[in-house]
Amino acid sequence: MALRKIRTGKDPVLRKVCKPVNDINDSFKTLLDDMADTMYDADGVGLAAPQVGVLRRAVVIDVGEGLVELINPEIIETKGEQKDCEGCLSIPGATAEVIRPSYVKAKALNRDGEEIIVEGRGLMARAICHELDHLDGILYVDKAVGEIQY
Ligand code: NI
Repeated sequence: MALRKIRTGKDPVLRKVCKPVNDINDSFKTLLDDMADTMYDADGVGLAAPQVGVLRRAVVIDVGEGLVELINPEIIETKGEQKDCEGCLSIPGATAEVIRPSYVKAKALNRDGEEIIVEGRGLMARAICHELDHLDGILYVDKAVGEIQY
């Protein structure tokens, strides 16, 4: 188990657009393992590679339904709308309401380089949207519909 430092606040790495993953090699798989360890250690439900300082398109999510690793993910379908409170390991102690789709379908690669389809409703849909936003340098506070609560 290896933990990586979670970048927070105004760290500029959080505002960059990440590059696609071209080569899922051993060091990249170690990164995925470390991202999951770091997410669980911090009691998060998702973590994106830029949050540990790596500008590549990869996220890990576990909303209590098991670990999902998404490499080069893209949202291909959304339905509905949900408004709920959201937080982020890179913005400790804050929450705000964000409107997200209530259903999301995404395609991605798994660590074996195979294309996978992931569907999420409720919190999973929210987590997919939140983590994929990180890959484009977008933080949930950019989309908050109300006051940010500390
Ligand atoms: Ni986040």
